[in-house]
Amino acid sequence: MSVNRRWKLKKRPVGDLAPGDLELVSEAVPTPGPGQILIRNIYLSLDPTNRIWMSDMDQYMPPVEIGDVMRGGTIGVVEASNNPGFKPGDIVQPFDMGWQDYVVSNGAQKLQVGPDLPILAYMGGLGMTAITAYFGLLDIGKPKPGETVVVSAAAGAVGSIVGQIAKLKGCHVVGLAGSDDKCKWVVDELGFDACINYRTENVLEALRRECPKGIDVYFENVGGEILDAVLTLINLEARIPVCGLISTYNADGPVPGPYMFRNILMKRALLKGFIVIDYFPRIAEFFADMPGWLASGQIKWKVDVRQGLENAPVVLQDLFTGGNTGKLVVQIGPEP
Ligand SMILES: NC(=O)c1ccc[n+]([C@@H]2O[C@H](COP(=O)([O-])OP(=O)(O)OC[C@H]3O[C@@H](n4cnc5c(N)ncnc54)[C@H](OP(=O)(O)O)[C@@H]3O)[C@@H](O)[C@H]2O)c1
Repeated sequence: MSVNRRWKLKKRPVGDLAPGDLELVSEAVPTPGPGQILIRNIYLSLDPTNRIWMSDMDQYMPPVEIGDVMRGGTIGVVEASNNPGFKPGDIVQPFDMGWQDYVVSNGAQKLQVGPDLPILAYMGGLGMTAITAYFGLLDIGKPKPGETVVVSAAAGAVGSIVGQIAKLKGCHVVGLAGSDDKCKWVVDELGFDACINYRTENVLEALRRECPKGIDVYFENVGGEILDAVLTLINLEARIPVCGLISTYNADGPVPGPYMFRNILMKRALLKGFIVIDYFPRIAEFFADMPGWLASGQIKWKVDVRQGLENAPVVLQDLFTGGNTGKLVVQIGPEP
């Protein structure tokens, strides 16, 4: 490929991401300077937080500035290196994240890949969303055997891993997802005890049915009305890792708060927000457990791979309409 296609933020979206909010430009492939490496991106991670980064709301990282390349995690292959630590062919996660074909990088994380460890594992079971699931559930949720764990966006990248880890810890696990097919997948394939289609069922009634002993851990991915229903049923000293609130990310005005928030007080629940980057200093704990769980088949992962960097903005919308199952990824170019 002779050009570097790059998606740049043209204006901040209002409500849903719309055509024209991002602009695809073609530039020359950059040349690495002293100590630098040239990386060709292969896979782009699409994440709900991309929409947060496009806005100028108060957030955990600086927003993407207008005119800048859209930020996003990628995995790529080293094509040229002026750095003795890297050679052409190395598979890496560049520190300079972006929706683009090529990047010149001052540093990158080298990934071990092989016949049993495909590149896509680093978007799936060993990827950022799996790390999020692992620490959010175990460090904040602290599930104990016999407890009831509820997880929203259960068929998504984070939620699908959360439920499986909770099963490994001996919990009764109930997911919430937006279609019967997704619910069938998390119960039949991933081993959840039950899954509620929140689009077709009365969520509070269904939660009462599936959680007869109340809810000890709620892994929060969506917010809104689902949070209210869960709060109604939490047990004493419940724990609520607040991982994400995707139902609010496209809102362009104030969002309604949960009416049942008083139960945080009445039930002395722990509700704690976290961002996966908080846990990077403890990443060794994740890599001590997860590769074994994947190899033994105790944890399964799924990637939902779409083709073409040019389609990234349209594909991103699937996260907000429920069009994805598992980790949503765009393939930018071929694997070596
Ligand atoms: N704290 C952190 O460090 C961190 C890291 C990664 C992700 N997150 C958060 O974790 C959550 C899940 O992220 P992910 O990457 O794993 O995405 P994902 O679950 O793979 O995809 C998002 C899913 O959310 C569901 N959804 C969208 N709008 C919804 C709504 N209004 N109400 C209910 N469900 C809705 C859709 O599934 P349905 O078909 O089931 O509706 C959609 O497939 C997001 O809130 C994200 O921001 C946080």
